[in-house]
Amino acid sequence: MSITNKLKRDHMCGELRKEDVGKTVTIMGWVAKARDLGGLIFIDLRDTTGICQIVVRDENPDIFKIAQGLKSEYVIGVRGVLFERESKNKNIPTGDVELIVEEIKVFDEAKTPPIYIKDDDNVSDEMRLKYRYLDLRKSNLQKNLKIRAKAAKIVRDYLDEYSFVEVETPFLNKPTPEGARDYLVPSRINKGKFYALPQSPQLMKQLLMVAGMDRYYQIVKCFRDEDLRANRQPEFTQIDMEMSFADQEDIMELNEGLLSRVFKEILDVDLPRPFPRMSYQDAMENYGSDKPDLRFGFLITDISEIVKDSEFKVFAAANEKGSSVRGINLGEYQKDFSRKKVDALEKFAKTHGAKGMAWIRVKEGEVQSPIAKFLSEKELEGICNAFGNNENDLILLISDKDSTVFETLSALRHEAASKLDLIDEKAMAVSWIVNFPMFEYDEEENRYVAKHHPFTMPMEEDLELLDQSPEKVRAKAYDIVINGDEIGGGSIRINNSSLQNEIFKLLKLSKEDIEEKFGFFVEALQYGTPPHGGLAYGFDRMCMLLTGSDNIKDVIAFPKTQSATDLLTNAPGSVNEIQLEELNLEINKINE
Ligand code: AMO
Repeated sequence: MSITNKLKRDHMCGELRKEDVGKTVTIMGWVAKARDLGGLIFIDLRDTTGICQIVVRDENPDIFKIAQGLKSEYVIGVRGVLFERESKNKNIPTGDVELIVEEIKVFDEAKTPPIYIKDDDNVSDEMRLKYRYLDLRKSNLQKNLKIRAKAAKIVRDYLDEYSFVEVETPFLNKPTPEGARDYLVPSRINKGKFYALPQSPQLMKQLLMVAGMDRYYQIVKCFRDEDLRANRQPEFTQIDMEMSFADQEDIMELNEGLLSRVFKEILDVDLPRPFPRMSYQDAMENYGSDKPDLRFGFLITDISEIVKDSEFKVFAAANEKGSSVRGINLGEYQKDFSRKKVDALEKFAKTHGAKGMAWIRVKEGEVQSPIAKFLSEKELEGICNAFGNNENDLILLISDKDSTVFETLSALRHEAASKLDLIDEKAMAVSWIVNFPMFEYDEEENRYVAKHHPFTMPMEEDLELLDQSPEKVRAKAYDIVINGDEIGGGSIRINNSSLQNEIFKLLKLSKEDIEEKFGFFVEALQYGTPPHGGLAYGFDRMCMLLTGSDNIKDVIAFPKTQSATDLLTNAPGSVNEIQLEELNLEINKINE
C-alpha cells in the first residue's frame, strides 16, 4: 500500500514550474478546493508560497478513497510526479503543471471553516478577527507579514551598518503621564503601586545616550490608551533610534538613507533625495494639517482680510482672534460638482465640526452662489481674485475657529480629491515637516503642553522667548510625512538639567511633580550628557505604505478592534477574586 507516514516535504506548492516537469516531488499544505469528477479528483493544494493543482486518479483505490474524503482545509501531504497540464491556468504561477498523486497522507481533518480562505472574501471584520488564524491563511495577509519582516530586516541591516546597537528597554516602567493615557499594570509585590507600559522608550533611550551607548535602536512595542483609528492601535511598533553628537541634519540625512533603502528594496520606488521640507506654519496655512497629503493640490487661501468688514454675519470669524475665514478652490473641477454634490460636501464639512460651508461657483465667468447677495461687489471680487479669478472655479469657504477651519478644509481637500479620483495610490509623496512650535496651549488644562514632548530642545534663537512668549518658541523637532500620514517623528533633546527643569516648570509641573516623576531623569542629565537626538517611526504605518493597505490591522498579525479588544482571545478579560486580592485591588463599579 502506498500510504505512508514517511513523506518528507521537498518542494513548496507555489514554486513548481514547467522546468520541474518529470520530477517526483512531495508537497504539503491545506486543501483549498477539491473537485470530484468521478474517476478523477482535482485538488488545489495551498501552502505559504501559493497553490498547486494535484490530481488523484482512481487507479489506486486506497488513495482514491482517501482523496474522495478530502474537504476544504484538510491538511495533507502528497508525493507524485509533476506533469505539464493540458489546460493551463494563466492566473497562477504554477498554472502550467500538475502533480499526479502516488502517495497521500492526511495529517489533520478540518471542520468547515466559518470564513472562506479567499483574499476578496467580504466577510465581516468581526469574523475575520475572531478567526484570525484562518484569516491569516489568506495570501494577501501572509504577503503583508512577509513584507513587514523584510522591512524590519532591511532596517536592522542599515542601522547596523551605521553602528547602531539594538538595546532592549523595560516594559514595566514608572508611570510618568505626559502625552497619551498609560496602560497600567498593578504590582503584586508593591501593593497599591503600578507600572506603566511604555508609550515609547523615550526616557530610556536618552539615558542610553547618557550611558555612552552612542547609537541605539530598537524595533519595539509601544502602548497608548487612546482613541483608535484606521492608522492607530493600542499596541503598535516603533522603529526607535537615538544618536549622540548628532545634529538635526545628521539625523535627517541618516533617515533619508534608511527610508530610501526600504522603499527601493521593497517597492523599487526611488524617494527623492534630499526629501523636501516644509515648515509647520506653511503646512498649516496651505494644507490645514501638519501631515499634509502632497499628492494633490487644492491649497488653502486665507480671505479674512478681504471679508473683515463684511456685513455677512457668517464671516464674523474674520475679526476674532484665533478665528478666520479660509477656503479651497476646486477650479476647473467645478463641472464635476453638481449642486447636490456641493451639498454633500457641506454635509461632510459639518462632520468635521464646521457649522456650515459657504461656496462660490464661477461657471464660464458667471458667478453663482447663495452667499453672493450678502456680499458687497468688492468683497465678492476680492474673494474671486484671491482664488485666481478663473473662468471656472468652485470656492469652498469655512469661517470658524482656526482649528476647525484647518481641520475641515484639510478633510475637504482629501474628500474632493478622492471623489475626483485624483489620488495616485502608487505615489509616495514624502516630506519633512520642520520648525514645529515647542508648545501649544491646552484650553481644557489651562496650561501649555509640549507639542512633541517635553524633552525636545527649543531652537537656540528662540530661547529668550521662553519666559515671555512661549507660544513663539520653535522646537528642534521634525516629522516625516508620507501621503498625509505621519510615519515618524523626532527631535534634538535637551541635554542640560536646568533647561529641562525650566521646561517642566513652564508646563506647570510643580517642583514635587518634577521630582516624583522625572527626578531620576533630571539627575541623570547632571552627570555629563552628550548632545543627542533621535526619531521613531510608526513601523505599522510604514508597513501600510509598503503593502498598500488602508487599515493598520492588515499589517499586524493579531490586531485589536476599535474598542481595544482582541476578538480571538476575548482580551481584556476578568480576573478572579484571588488575583484581585493579591494585587490589593477591588472592582467597585462597572459601567456596562
Ligand atoms: P511619536 O509619539 O510621534 O514620537 O510616535 C512616533 C510614531 O509612532 C507612530 N504612532 C502610532 N502608530 C500606530 N498606533 C498608534 N497609536 C501610534 N502612535 C504613534 C506614528 C508616530 O510618528 N518618543 C517619540 C519619538 C522621538 O522623539 O524620538 C515618539 O514616540 O507614526
